[in-house]
Amino acid sequence: MRSFAAVLALGCFAAVLTLGCFAALPASAQQLVKERLPACLACHGENGQSQLEGVPSLGAQQAFYVTVQLLMFREKMRLADPMNDMAKDLTDTDLQGFADIISQLPAPQPAAGPVDDARMQRAQVLVQQNRCNFCHLPNFVGQQNVPRIGAQREDYLVKALRGYKDNSRHGYDSSMADVIAPITDEQILDLAYYIARVK
Ligand code: HEC
Ligand code: HEC
Repeated sequence: MRSFAAVLALGCFAAVLTLGCFAALPASAQQLVKERLPACLACHGENGQSQLEGVPSLGAQQAFYVTVQLLMFREKMRLADPMNDMAKDLTDTDLQGFADIISQLPAPQPAAGPVDDARMQRAQVLVQQNRCNFCHLPNFVGQQNVPRIGAQREDYLVKALRGYKDNSRHGYDSSMADVIAPITDEQILDLAYYIARVK
């Protein structure tokens, strides 16, 4: 289990990186991240907020979560176009460099427009029943390997939750597979609606 050991090692690095040690990265990694970041943000949104369907917002994402996911893309433990390709030649240090910068982008803003109160209330009950906030924390800001999901794009949230449900997305741990098992597709739609809009 090479990747497991790798992630454990990354954990120590990520703890250092969250204290803002980008400058401590080797110059070669700094250079690579600087060169490639504009292409990443052309898809993911320059100010942390994605404008493209199917592409997640990355602003203020937890650095450790980003590192783990980039590693999973690289190792093809998480399969998704175009990310397996994007991550394929990145070193562990590069992954940490991207994660550090991404975690410092501004957090995305909740979806605007009129709100369906009945859906919001149905979803709130589901969030309580399934203890989403226990791991994702109040306001869904995330922690460690648990992602920030508040104000994430609704279409991406639906895709992510369906992926855990039909087993096409394997998490780094089994938390989400366990959580999603009793949740229906209709409930996934309400949860995504709510999490994309909650303030
Ligand atoms: C052509 C568009 C595109 C480019 C360029 C791109 N990404 Fe992505 N990225 C995506 C899509 C689409 C997904 C969602 C994949 C899925 O559906 O699971 C994603 C997912 C991610 C995720 C996981 C987010 C989460 O919430 O789980 C991270 C982290 C990420 N990208 C970082 C990067 C970095 C760093 C780069 C540059 C090296 C980059 N991306 C370049 C389209 C792109
Ligand atoms: C036991 C802890 C735990 C609970 C409870 C939990 N989550 Fe998660 N969640 C996680 C972890 C850990 C991940 C990252 C898994 C991975 O590596 O893919 C995650 C990932 C996600 C993602 C993917 C985000 C992205 O950027 O790709 C979504 C969406 C999500 N959770 C929604 C929910 C919702 C909605 C609930 C309640 C119904 C919930 N979670 C309950 C731990 C939890």
